[in-house]
Amino acid sequence: MCGIVGYVGPRQAGPIILRGLQSLEYRGYDSAGIAVLDGPGELAIRKSVGKVRELTSFLSNGAPSGTTGLGHTRWATHGKVALTNAHPHMDCRGELAVVHNGIVENYLELKKSLLERGHTFASETDSEVIPHLIEEGLAQGKSFEDAFAPLVDRLHGAHAIVALWKKAPGKLLAMRRGNAGGLIVGLGQSEALVASDLPALVPLARRVCFLEDREIAVLTPAEVKVITPLGRVVPKRFDPVSTDAAWADKGGYKHFMLKEIMEQPQTVGSALRGRVDFEAGEVRLEGFPLSREQVLDLRRVLLIGCGTSLHAAMVGRRLIETFAGVPAEAESSSEFRYRNPTIDAHTLVVAIAQSGETADTLAAMDEVRQKGGRLVAICNAEGSQATRLAEATFSMRAGPEIGVASTKTFLASLTILALLGLQLGQGREALGRQLLQESLGHLASAPYLLGQVIADLGPYQRMARRFCHYEHFLYLGRGIHHPIALEGALKLKEISYIHAEGYPAGEMKHGPIALIDDKMPVVAIAPRDELYPKMLNNIEEVKARGGTVIAVGTQGDQELAAKTDHLLIVPASPPIIAPLLVTPALQLLAYYIGVQKGCDVDQPRNLAKSVTVE
Ligand code: M6R
Repeated sequence: MCGIVGYVGPRQAGPIILRGLQSLEYRGYDSAGIAVLDGPGELAIRKSVGKVRELTSFLSNGAPSGTTGLGHTRWATHGKVALTNAHPHMDCRGELAVVHNGIVENYLELKKSLLERGHTFASETDSEVIPHLIEEGLAQGKSFEDAFAPLVDRLHGAHAIVALWKKAPGKLLAMRRGNAGGLIVGLGQSEALVASDLPALVPLARRVCFLEDREIAVLTPAEVKVITPLGRVVPKRFDPVSTDAAWADKGGYKHFMLKEIMEQPQTVGSALRGRVDFEAGEVRLEGFPLSREQVLDLRRVLLIGCGTSLHAAMVGRRLIETFAGVPAEAESSSEFRYRNPTIDAHTLVVAIAQSGETADTLAAMDEVRQKGGRLVAICNAEGSQATRLAEATFSMRAGPEIGVASTKTFLASLTILALLGLQLGQGREALGRQLLQESLGHLASAPYLLGQVIADLGPYQRMARRFCHYEHFLYLGRGIHHPIALEGALKLKEISYIHAEGYPAGEMKHGPIALIDDKMPVVAIAPRDELYPKMLNNIEEVKARGGTVIAVGTQGDQELAAKTDHLLIVPASPPIIAPLLVTPALQLLAYYIGVQKGCDVDQPRNLAKSVTVE
């Protein structure tokens, strides 16, 4: 959470930082600010509450002049959304400007002792202790670097920090400690940049490098030097920057979310590309790190993730058990590490994270490594921390996902999980040749069938107009569609602020049925699969209590049409791809309800795309 960008070079820093912040806004958008240093003279700070566009329009008559600067877009943790809490923060003398991503876990203790030593604070944030700590070092006659370096140990928690000092024009210091969403430094033409993510660097940086834990970068126009807290130079390799990281546009759609939903046939195609040998009837996930013997020796597969990625894990669990015949579990990363999980070399852990920077998932991955488990990741962000912790990463290849609500990365995860299930089944000889061939054929047909689901947006728009005023929804699904019900409910909550619950349909009679009335529509996922008759019973139970049912069902299902109030149609499909077809219907329902309610569907309130705090 929170986006950081810094620039030092010959150009005006203000516009570069504003553009960088715009591309980082997915990380947080409740306030934004910049600091620009004009030679050794003036340190100008400008902030505004709200999105980056508020700051840009506030500065429409010109950003402060200067060629060294930094900026921040905030996702509030400590201190309410207010101008005083927006970054950058300053020291008592107004000579330092600091932007920070992370949580200073010991800030109360640090702040108390700083107050006792006479420092004054302007904000309620934990971050503000940082400029005051640097200020103390400088007051003792230390260099900027020597005053900055001790932060690595004095601040508890995970951090990304960038600082500038009025008396060191043409220099920025950056630091990474732990997993606080990453920090990347870039080199351009006699200029250097630092940012939380690649899109903010791409226009100018030609080569980039990722800072590792406890590394400090000293940026000047001529070079970027990376040092340890004790000042030892760390040799770093700067790699050419990938143009895939470039800022995406809406491609003519009103919102990124709609564009990303509509891209999903290509997303699934691209997740399959090069990973299946259709002629040989084999799956070959690149870099799969387990030998044939190790696959045969596997005793357990554990899938972890948060939010939408957790829902993908829950689908994956079922696919892996079905195809590979190995016990599989899915668990929230945020719970996993706090229960002393039993992991050994016979456990394969699959970490799913579109951003690759989710703090809870990274912490869980660390735990797996410490306990000697085997670890692979499914991730959309090249070079992210998750990809560096895992033994191998299967890239989602979904391209930039800008909408804060995950859509296409969910489908990419499901596709890769199906491949992983088949590959494990193949390796364990748990899967007959015919079933494998058929399953691969089904996966290959998914992009085409998905195209049919999104071909006509009319039904979703009509349904949204009809249902946007309801305050509660219940989503029901069984088997592999239970996690899809959870995902449908999550999408609705996130982007329309309507309360929605996902439930396994069989559990409804154990409690939630008490809620059923004409004020709570029920979205029932009821494709023609082996659990279809049971779903029909659940639909009857809802109808018998005066509930309204919106069913997602198979094309041509007259029986379902007769039993429900509204029907969203998906093509007939086998279970391995059914979730790929049902999910877009639920995404579109949520999207149009959000739009109908006038919500900011791409940047819903209180959320951020990368959740880099625990
Ligand atoms: O980057 P990750 O996949 O690890 O993100 C996990 C969740 O934060 C994410 O799925 C979140 O729930 C989304 N807003 C869902 O739309």
